[in-house]
Amino acid sequence: MATGHDDNIVWHTHPVTGADRERLHGHQGVVVWFTGLSGSGKSTLAGALEQALHQRGVSTYLLDGDNVRHGLCGDLGFSEGDRKENIRRVGEVAKLMVDAGLVVLTAFISPHRAERRKVRDMLGAGRFLEVFVDTPLALCEARDPKGLYKKARAGELRHFTGIDAAYEAPEQPDIHLDGEQLVTKLTAQLLDLLHRHDIIKR
Ligand code: ADX
Repeated sequence: MATGHDDNIVWHTHPVTGADRERLHGHQGVVVWFTGLSGSGKSTLAGALEQALHQRGVSTYLLDGDNVRHGLCGDLGFSEGDRKENIRRVGEVAKLMVDAGLVVLTAFISPHRAERRKVRDMLGAGRFLEVFVDTPLALCEARDPKGLYKKARAGELRHFTGIDAAYEAPEQPDIHLDGEQLVTKLTAQLLDLLHRHDIIKR
């Protein structure tokens, strides 16, 4: 994996800036980072929030773990190193999209605090909102939308988050959602968060 750039690569500054693009969109770019167990409701909530924002004329993009793993991260598995690389790539893509002026919604388990912190630090203050979708493991397992918990319990799938791989819950998320609540109620809480951060107007 490439670790950085060398001295022969120089940053080129272009005439149209991130601030120009934000003006055009009529709002600032930001990442709304959903984290939680598989089956916690991250993708559903991110989809519902995106729909609500889209209806309000906000320019959005949703990066979803299961989808990104079909393309950009199709070469990665679920070892600690691969998950780290998954989150690093997604963080870099999200950063570009924020520079494009978008409200970027990301739905990845992102089980490690350190990797989430790296993305937050890279994006800078006010550009990263961490959403903890807190759904009890028992409920995620009962939902089991893809039948993966069943496989993990049967020993057919190794390193499954919450079963035999760790999930580190956020200590200070920007919002802590009770994943047992209705999607409509949680979406309203997320819209409220974006109002409070001046991303969207009432
Ligand atoms: S992350 O840990 O690297 O952030 P990511 O969100 O991209 O994970 O992918 C998680 C999705 O991959 C799960 O919702 C599930 O559908 C699928 N998956 C397949 N194998 C595993 C595994 N071992 N652990 C967790 N999720 C898995």
